[in-house]
Amino acid sequence: MAAQDERRDELLSWYRLDHRDLPWRRTRDPYRIWVSEIMLQQTRVETVLSYYERFLTRFPDVGSLAAAPQDDVLAAWSGLGYYRRARFLKTAAETVVRDHASRFPSSVEGACELPGIGRSTAGAIVSIAYGTRAPVLDGNVKRVLARLAGLDEQDGAALEKRAWPLAQRLVDCDDAGDVNQALMELGATVCLPFAAARCEECPWRRSCRARAEDRVAALPRTRPRTALRDETWAVAVARRASRFLVHRRDPVGLLHDLFELPTFELTAAQASSTLRQRAALAAALRTRFNCPFTVGDELLLHRQVISNRRVTMRVFAVSVGERVAPRGRWLTPTALAQLAITMATRKLVAKLAHPPALNAKAKAAAARPRARSRPRPP
Ligand code: ADE
Repeated sequence: MAAQDERRDELLSWYRLDHRDLPWRRTRDPYRIWVSEIMLQQTRVETVLSYYERFLTRFPDVGSLAAAPQDDVLAAWSGLGYYRRARFLKTAAETVVRDHASRFPSSVEGACELPGIGRSTAGAIVSIAYGTRAPVLDGNVKRVLARLAGLDEQDGAALEKRAWPLAQRLVDCDDAGDVNQALMELGATVCLPFAAARCEECPWRRSCRARAEDRVAALPRTRPRTALRDETWAVAVARRASRFLVHRRDPVGLLHDLFELPTFELTAAQASSTLRQRAALAAALRTRFNCPFTVGDELLLHRQVISNRRVTMRVFAVSVGERVAPRGRWLTPTALAQLAITMATRKLVAKLAHPPALNAKAKAAAARPRARSRPRPP
């Protein structure tokens, strides 16, 4: 048996013996597989699991997705983040209905013409749905192949150039879909990054170059991270009973069109003291909503990486006169969760609506009588 066939057999036997039972592995419906692959692009399996079935109940086929208002699609995507994927998915659904008689293309070339679908995602969908002999090369598969073949190239175009042909040779068979699923499974559960690899469980432990050369943790060679830009944003929490004031971000630029607690980027000078942050927030709120706000206590400090920015959010309680009706919407946390909101707002509202219970140590400290600063006189 050629070495390539032997490798493939080892992989498939391992996969078929035991793998995670994931809902998109129980279907051959190209639409359902397509939705899963788009959701999985930048999101962990565990997170996708809690959105996938709900999304498919709401949009059970490509026709219903194509016909739905964009805001409904974004709302169903809320919580998965990276909304660009949902916008592309919706546009691509319109194209599939209009130009492909509602049938997802069965070739990589056809699939790649749709927005949001690159070569690897296309390979995953058409191999799993139709058995097309198309390879996948996502981050997990790249790691597996780099180690198997001992590829020294730094992660990026040079590594991919060497890995694609290896991936292609593995799927040149009648089980292309299973081979791709098995490679992704191996990367996600066994051939883990750096020193987390569980080589003793690997079907390729005897043939892996990286293992033989004791270089598993070193491969693939990672490229230097791109530097993040530091930014400070001020966030306003205006509440009326259990409702929060939210607004919609501008239709262009970062996080465009999404709903959020009113948020404003601060200049370095504005961010330089709490006093200046408050003043800048009050001015920005007045401009945005066309009415005066009072900025109160700082409630939270929240840090999050957004795109290429490392953002520090200073979150302030604000109030607005009872008779004033700012141009925004007052929504309960439940209503908000059903809109396309930013991930930061999702996290902040969760923290504000359900402040974390005191942990056991803090509770005990709070219950204990205060220590006296000076011993009582006898
Ligand atoms: N990541 C991307 N595609 C996947 C799939 N089909 N199964 C598990 N993880 C994946």
